[in-house]
Amino acid sequence: MKHKSPVIIGNWKMHKTIPEATSFIKDLLPSLEQSMARVGLAVPFTMISKVSEVAQDSKLSIGAQNLSDAEEGPFTGEISGRMLADAGASFVLVGHSERRHLFLETSCLVNRKLKQALHDGLQAIVCIGETLEEYEAGKTQEVLSAQIQASLKGIPAKMFYDRVILAYEPVWAIGTGKTATPEIAQAAHQFCRGMVAHLFDKDAAQALIIQYGGSVKADNAAALLRQEDIDGLLIGGASLSLDSFIRIIQYKPL
Ligand code: PGA
Repeated sequence: MKHKSPVIIGNWKMHKTIPEATSFIKDLLPSLEQSMARVGLAVPFTMISKVSEVAQDSKLSIGAQNLSDAEEGPFTGEISGRMLADAGASFVLVGHSERRHLFLETSCLVNRKLKQALHDGLQAIVCIGETLEEYEAGKTQEVLSAQIQASLKGIPAKMFYDRVILAYEPVWAIGTGKTATPEIAQAAHQFCRGMVAHLFDKDAAQALIIQYGGSVKADNAAALLRQEDIDGLLIGGASLSLDSFIRIIQYKPL
């Protein structure tokens, strides 16, 4: 039996309007009572304020999918961590693979965004993961090691107890229907935890929540969560349907 409650986060990406999100969340809330997990939704910026009101006093956390690395200033179209917190977000995704690959975010930028998120009082979910090419070339550990070192540089170990979550999302598994097997994911998670122990602090590495993401569905969630070093899930497509998201958060450990 694991001692940490799993953290399950839905990442809605660029989907749903405010009325769609509101009705989804109203229908989701009662099912949180039967979940052993801590549950959150990373929603589009435009609905954070409204859905935070709907989720108020519930067990559901509301977060954002990105933030600027700057505190404030002349950055047209950007959103600051302070604005996200002000709108009601309690957490933010940082360095999601779509940000890294489609919007060319480097680990150095991810590191600045992470520091800004923590400065603004947000919990941060830092995403890492290798591409298919890197996976096939046997470079998974090399890539994860470089991403962890650069993305988490200068972060105090005490942040790994509850302010920083790591999400391992192999790029080849995101939105492709190809989930990493529980064994492949476990090996990567164990490696990441070992890296954090080596670079920071052993106890903090043990306490760190490491989520898996990439084509998680209702029928593979429990097997992934049973792995020793998989402490949670980051879910894209399957979090858009109420039925599948509820089935995932109500997974049975055995
Ligand atoms: P997916 O996305 O579950 O649709 O593969 C995961 C993610 O992008 O976080």
